[in-house]
Amino acid sequence: MSADPMDGWSLPAWTYRDSEFFELEKERVFAPSWQVVCHESDLPNVGDWHTLDYLGESVIVVRGKDARLRAFTNVCRHRGSRILDGFRGCTRKLVCPYHAWTYELDGSLSGVPDSASYPTLDKSKSGLAGVSMEVWHGFIFVRLKDEGPSVADVMSPYEEMIAPYRFEELQALGRVTLRPRNVNWKNIGDNYSDGLHIPVAHPGLTRLFGKGYGIEAESHVDRMWGAMVDRPSDNWSERLYQRLLPKVPNLPEDRQRFWLYFKLWPNVAFDIYPDQVDFMQWLPISPTESLIREISYALPDDRREMRAARYLNWRINRQVNAEDTMLITRVQQGMNSRSFSIGPLSDKEVCLKHFCARMRDIIPEAHLEAQPEAGWSRS
Ligand code: FES
Ligand SMILES: [Fe+2]
Repeated sequence: MSADPMDGWSLPAWTYRDSEFFELEKERVFAPSWQVVCHESDLPNVGDWHTLDYLGESVIVVRGKDARLRAFTNVCRHRGSRILDGFRGCTRKLVCPYHAWTYELDGSLSGVPDSASYPTLDKSKSGLAGVSMEVWHGFIFVRLKDEGPSVADVMSPYEEMIAPYRFEELQALGRVTLRPRNVNWKNIGDNYSDGLHIPVAHPGLTRLFGKGYGIEAESHVDRMWGAMVDRPSDNWSERLYQRLLPKVPNLPEDRQRFWLYFKLWPNVAFDIYPDQVDFMQWLPISPTESLIREISYALPDDRREMRAARYLNWRINRQVNAEDTMLITRVQQGMNSRSFSIGPLSDKEVCLKHFCARMRDIIPEAHLEAQPEAGWSRS
């Protein structure tokens, strides 16, 4: 196989704003990819439910009377009405607000007012439409199209690395935050896996981790990491974090002061700190809009130093997020300039190079430097 002439180059700017490219991404990149919804501990009781809205779909995850979790589309089989509103709740049955069709927690259709008047209705075949679901170490994932490996498969090389964090026992520290961003979803992911910008644009991370930020790319997973330096930072949140972060009994010595990040293809990240674990997911809304969905989890630990360390971690990362928001906004602006199309990628940017190659594989038009004529995706 001959080398791809675009190897070593970024994706062209038009792919960060083109509506046809965006539609193909939804179908080929997002529909078959696993999306995290929440953690099992967010749904402790029978009837507890969570929804995830993306790609114009709404997916319900609900715990049944048999304690099992199931996923369905949030769509009534009568006239297609949305059934549940909001992100979470608890219910005995799923009742459609339009004409009161009633579904059990296992998705089966159990109640249809005046059901004898529907000659074409077969209740046994009209349960809620199922959605593929996978629970990976307590985290609940769904996908709209069954294609490609499981979460467990793609994360299997890291099993040992992840085990001490006891993901199954995590509990939410707060609620899901939703942060809209006026950028293409790829811009957020590119920035997440970009190791080069850290010493330039994140002075806090550089004070905490020196130059020791590592990155690597596997077929479906990027990994980034940094080991905290001993030298006290001159920023008070960072210095206090360094000082107060207590020993975490379940973690080995080399993980006590270690930040570890995983990005799962294409848009889900786990930020793993000694004091907490969060997931961050950037959902595509339009070619130039995304929604960042994020929540932290932690193992029960009421020590004062641990509570302080968690707060300080949040402060440090709030600053990092503000810096990244500036960066991705600036890049999105450049994607609209007639002067920019592709830029060279350093060999050190293994994650970006890998992402671009994969995108060009899935949507070959990403090889084109100039935006093709409207209608290109249909011809
Ligand atoms: S649309 Fe749901 S009951 Fe009619
Ligand atoms: Fe960053």
